[in-house]
Amino acid sequence: MAMAEDDETSETRNNARLAILELANMISVPMALNAIIHLKVPDIIYHQQPHPNTPLTASQILTRANLPNADPDNLQRLLRLLTSHNVFAEYTITSSPNSPPERSYSLTETGKTLVTDDHGLSYASYVLQHHQDALVKSWPLLHHAVLDPTVEPFARSNGGKSAYSYYGENPEMNLLMQKAMSGVSVPFMKAIMDGYDGFGFDGKKIQRLVDVGGSGGDCLRMILRKYSHVVEGINFDLPEVVAKAPKIPGVTHVGGDMFKEIPKGDAIFMKWVLTTWTDDECEKIMKNCYEALPVGGKLIACEPVLPLDSDSSHRTRALLAGDIFVMAIYRAKGKHRTEDEFRQLGLSTGFNAFRAIYIDHFYTVLEFTK
Ligand SMILES: C[S@@+](CC[C@H](N)C(=O)[O-])C[C@H]1O[C@@H](n2cnc3c(N)ncnc32)[C@H](O)[C@@H]1O
Repeated sequence: MAMAEDDETSETRNNARLAILELANMISVPMALNAIIHLKVPDIIYHQQPHPNTPLTASQILTRANLPNADPDNLQRLLRLLTSHNVFAEYTITSSPNSPPERSYSLTETGKTLVTDDHGLSYASYVLQHHQDALVKSWPLLHHAVLDPTVEPFARSNGGKSAYSYYGENPEMNLLMQKAMSGVSVPFMKAIMDGYDGFGFDGKKIQRLVDVGGSGGDCLRMILRKYSHVVEGINFDLPEVVAKAPKIPGVTHVGGDMFKEIPKGDAIFMKWVLTTWTDDECEKIMKNCYEALPVGGKLIACEPVLPLDSDSSHRTRALLAGDIFVMAIYRAKGKHRTEDEFRQLGLSTGFNAFRAIYIDHFYTVLEFTK
């Protein structure tokens, strides 16, 4: 703690003052990210012919965006901040000693995750989804999640509605949520299908696979394409979500409520669902999965798993930050869990065996066998 007699000229105190000012203004980072996506900057920089990702100045970006009256200085300020967070790479040319350097920007590997692919997907929708007004206004109420965890800040700031029912009543939010989920899930599925063997035969043949909370059905589409023995996919989600899901060969979209009943399958897949619910709610969902499986059948869940240490690595920070997002938006007692907490949830709902497979840095594959 800073004491009145502390030497404020010391390097330690100097660094402490700097660190707290950085933290106090941290909101500038995601909001700058949100702004450059609204301005379509990643697509403009990347989609250049014949040389994608050639560095561009802020003025060149605005010319290509057809925004002749926009302010290049302000855009450059956003680009500089995001360069310091490794979203852009910056190049400077100084033409004369008295003039400021001319700065131009290309995308780093992190920045490239925001570029729209041939299917219209990227991580940009996830960023936009998280910074809509209804979500942003929940954050100043975060301390209420400590004072009274029975109501999440999102519901507190949005007339008592939960986030999922709010999306359901707003078609634009519903679509953005679906696009955000697809943008994040497709690259993840590509990564785990190369390293995880659990959709294969593994003793029992999976013919009918149910995806609980499957959103637009991308995960099933990719699994069915790779494993020909999986002949039937059931994409199970809220009725208003599956109503907007695209047609996928071999996949039937089924609307319903996982707290009531889950369609039967040889195996159940579930990605990014348990995280947003409390322990009691997870037990209910997992019990319904258990009921829907044959003996020996597997629930294959992919969820963020919290490390035990609270270090400053990217992985720990991303997982801890996602945990607070869940607290603010979905359930004050919904959370990122440790591997052991997942194991306990599985045991308490009747599953016999559990294994955790670490392939992706964010999501862990969690196999619960009946
Ligand atoms: C965080 S999203 C994950 C979507 C998808 N599994 C993925 O990872 O891309 C959670 C999903 O659970 C669905 N969901 C929420 N409540 C549900 C319920 N009661 N029954 C079925 N699905 C539900 C949401 O509509 C949403 O699609």
